[in-house]
Amino acid sequence: MYVNEIFKREKIFIAQTYARQPIVLVGGRGISVKDIEGKEYLDFVAGIAVNCLGYGHPAVIEAIKAQSAKLIHTSNLYYTLPQIELAELLIKNSFKGKVFICNSGTEAVEGAIKLARKATKKKEIIATEGAFHGRTLGALSATGEEKYKKDFEPLVPGFKHVQFGNSKAVENAITNDTAAVIVEPIQGEHGIIVPPGSYLVELREICDKHNVLLILDEVQTGIGRTGKMFAFQHFGIEPDIVALAKGFGGGFPIGAFIGKTEIIDSFQPGAHASTFGGNPLACAVAKAVIETIIREKLIDHVAKIGAYFKERLKELVLGYNSIKEVRGLGLLLGMELAYKGDKIVDLARENGLLINCTADTTLRFVPPFIVQKEHIDKAISILDKVFKEQEAH
Ligand SMILES: Cc1ncc(COP(=O)(O)O)c(C=O)c1O
Repeated sequence: MYVNEIFKREKIFIAQTYARQPIVLVGGRGISVKDIEGKEYLDFVAGIAVNCLGYGHPAVIEAIKAQSAKLIHTSNLYYTLPQIELAELLIKNSFKGKVFICNSGTEAVEGAIKLARKATKKKEIIATEGAFHGRTLGALSATGEEKYKKDFEPLVPGFKHVQFGNSKAVENAITNDTAAVIVEPIQGEHGIIVPPGSYLVELREICDKHNVLLILDEVQTGIGRTGKMFAFQHFGIEPDIVALAKGFGGGFPIGAFIGKTEIIDSFQPGAHASTFGGNPLACAVAKAVIETIIREKLIDHVAKIGAYFKERLKELVLGYNSIKEVRGLGLLLGMELAYKGDKIVDLARENGLLINCTADTTLRFVPPFIVQKEHIDKAISILDKVFKEQEAH
């Protein structure tokens, strides 16, 4: 069979670091994708919380067409307008600071850690158990799960991990050599773990009290995903440094970190760099994505439709013993199961719904922001059917 041939070639030519689901995707429109055999799926994975405008959004296509015809890349030896315009837009929607643009989430975190050490001239970084910050060695050192780290030691020294959601544990871990605390506002990869509502406010107070920087990793939560442009805006605080990626480019690879002016001004030419980072094409696309999110009032939509989706998912909890809990904010939702979620993921896919499972037992729902009630109702009816099938076994 044709697809089996593709799977075989992938095994031969591609490093085997991914456990892929057995479909070959060839196209997408709106919130649906199509596989090579012509089957359509509602996509509630969205490139792992990336494709916030779905597939084939005219604003994204137009930005790629127009900018690629002008200038794709020049390096940072020269000034380019899209980079400056994007940074201005980000600052307008975050806090008073400056932006370094890179290409991915792990690079954003890596740069944020370097900035914290440079600005404070201190070494220690306090991170949290269960955190996921990326796969390069610095970000991996901040990551709080052994399974990602164990084969790659020695990692970068200076990282300590404390219990997530416990601000007292952070305060107890601070020493005279602590540069920063790094946390995700909601732990994404660890299973959509939402900390107590006061957590970020308390961390802000603790960091201020001890003169330590607060880095928020908003790679997964940022750019509208939780129903605010940044998750910290739910809590009335500002971090000193924020890392972002994923939804930022709407599928085009780009990441960034923003530092408060007085902090990021400790960087001078040569302190940090990226050949591709901030290239005109990626910046033009990210600018179009953010402008579209604002113009189409998608953040309000995420908050409202996310609340509706969460309620509908909670109705399923009542119907099935194997569903323990639904949690999350906006369109970053998780459903905790009493067993591993792989089988549900497979059954959902066979029924035309793409979801994924994180931290073994959590189904993750991160559809594009353009998702509508009818898509959610369809997804819920597929899940209902799938849980029925699974419980019948
Ligand atoms: C919170 C967080 N930080 C960092 C990363 C790493 O991002 P990337 O895969 O773009 O390097 C991820 C990816 O899942 C993430 O969820």
